[in-house]
Amino acid sequence: MSRTYKISVLPGDGIGREVVPDAVRVLDAVKEKLHGIHTEIHQFDCGGEYYQLQNREWSIEAEEFTKNEADAILLGAIGALDATGNSVRLPDGNLAGYNIVIGLRMELDLYANVRPVRLFEGVWTPIKDKGPNDIDMTIIRENTEGLYAPTRGILKRGNISDVAIDTRIITRKGAERVIRYAYNLAKVGRGAPADGKKRVTCVDKSNLLAGCQLFRQIFNEIGQEYSDVERDYAYVDAWTQWCIRKPEQYDVVVAPNEFGDIITDLGAAIQGGLGVAPAGNIGQEHAVFEPVHGSAPKYYGLKTANPIATILAMGMMLDWLGQVHKDKNARRGGELVKESVAQVLREGKVRTSDLCVGPWNSIEPSSTDAVTEAIIQTINEQE
Ligand code: NAI
Ligand code: MG
Repeated sequence: MSRTYKISVLPGDGIGREVVPDAVRVLDAVKEKLHGIHTEIHQFDCGGEYYQLQNREWSIEAEEFTKNEADAILLGAIGALDATGNSVRLPDGNLAGYNIVIGLRMELDLYANVRPVRLFEGVWTPIKDKGPNDIDMTIIRENTEGLYAPTRGILKRGNISDVAIDTRIITRKGAERVIRYAYNLAKVGRGAPADGKKRVTCVDKSNLLAGCQLFRQIFNEIGQEYSDVERDYAYVDAWTQWCIRKPEQYDVVVAPNEFGDIITDLGAAIQGGLGVAPAGNIGQEHAVFEPVHGSAPKYYGLKTANPIATILAMGMMLDWLGQVHKDKNARRGGELVKESVAQVLREGKVRTSDLCVGPWNSIEPSSTDAVTEAIIQTINEQE
């Protein structure tokens, strides 16, 4: 019998608490359909709402299980509002839940933030004249260093904040592993929509910044090991316009942390919005899968949130478990999730309001639950 994967499930705050349980229901359907996938779900409360009640971001048990025992982690979103409508914060000023979302990335060394940007058939993109045959790339964002490494400070003189410094750290190790991840992904992928060529685009600002010069140098060094993958380059400012004008050129894109952060939001916009954008934070031994969106507290309780981003993230989790443990069933599970989401979107009738735009603007919006049910039904009906 194949192994039983222990999954830490952390719905977090707001709509995370609606979409994560739905993704777990879809996982159950996949398991029932395929047999041979075994999981143990360990679900824990955490985040800002938990902090308000318990004065901790999560329980000791949740933290220990998630960090030490879980084979994979499925996260919703964190970020709660207090009674006055302000974000719940820790004494250090960070958002309550920060040590979960960002802390796990650092502590578990999840160096590659993997963001598939695929426009599914049946989803509207704001780019005129571009469709599902043009938009299918994966952006890999370095996830542990760059401008977001916690090497910063504000100098106060008297009582006045006077000087602020953010130091940007790019290391050989940090660059190497994420760049290698990008090449490996391109190597086994289908290539760019435009020409089918396997290509990695290095998005940086190496005309100006030393860290980016090192990043690009390492990109070239490692690229020599991948003779079947084309090397491509863009400065980040230019890339944002090429991404809109010629998204079909892009296959795998790799970028330092802060640039990756910015361009992946552009990616989410062209693939149909936050409601359909999944992400994986992947390290050597651990990984966290999550939707790109936050907790959207305004929408919590309305049952209008799109569960697809989180369901796709759960599918990425199965795929990753399958790769790491050489488990064909789990990989097939990941495929089944993607295929079923694709089919529901293609059919077009069941969708949350965020997707009732463009040619689909006259469709009556469905609830979160109805979308999940449609995906589960599609899974049940697959051959
Ligand atoms: P958000 O992503 O929660 O929501 C922004 C807007 O995107 C929403 O108003 C809604 O119109 C749309 N949206 C988001 N998710 C959707 C879904 N599943 N279906 C349909 N529409 C969706 O970002 P916002 O409002 O800036 O932040 C809310 C809270 O979430 C804050 O506390 C923020 O710090 C936190 N946050 C947490 C993240 C995480 O846990 N990884 C990431 C981003 C924000
Ligand atoms: Mg961002």
